[in-house]
Amino acid sequence: MTKEEQYIQFVDDYKRLISGETEEVSAMANTSAAIHDEFHFFWVGFYIVKADKLILGPFQGPVACSTIRFGKGVCGTAWKEQKTQVVPDVEQFPGHIACSSLSRSEIVVPVFANNEVKAVLDIDSTQLNTFDAIDRKYLEQVASILADTIYNKE
Ligand code: SME
Repeated sequence: MTKEEQYIQFVDDYKRLISGETEEVSAMANTSAAIHDEFHFFWVGFYIVKADKLILGPFQGPVACSTIRFGKGVCGTAWKEQKTQVVPDVEQFPGHIACSSLSRSEIVVPVFANNEVKAVLDIDSTQLNTFDAIDRKYLEQVASILADTIYNKE
């Protein structure tokens, strides 16, 4: 199975998993667990916008930094620019926040409600160049399904 086929299957299963869930914490917890279980990434989790900073939300993996300021690190940049950040080598990303020295590449996807960033989905890998346009496309779909479920309540 290619990575894209794996994501297509994953997104299909994910829709069923998350359907009807209205609690932010529960939905984020199961989203992190489902992605981690399927793809075995080093760290999968959420940072949630609270006033002027991001606070650590549900995640799977080692303990992590509990707050990140607007515009700081990869997560704060995704929030500020309202855009997915794909980082092939974290050492090349100015201001990258190293919660773990084992993390080598990263993707951060904003979760939007009413055109506002409500949270970010952050995934770290211990390998360089783990994430590409395929990860971006399908993880953005996951973020959008999650937002529709818990914020837009479609
Ligand atoms: N590396 C992130 C911080 C969060 S951890 O990777 C879990 C960043 O630069 O925003």
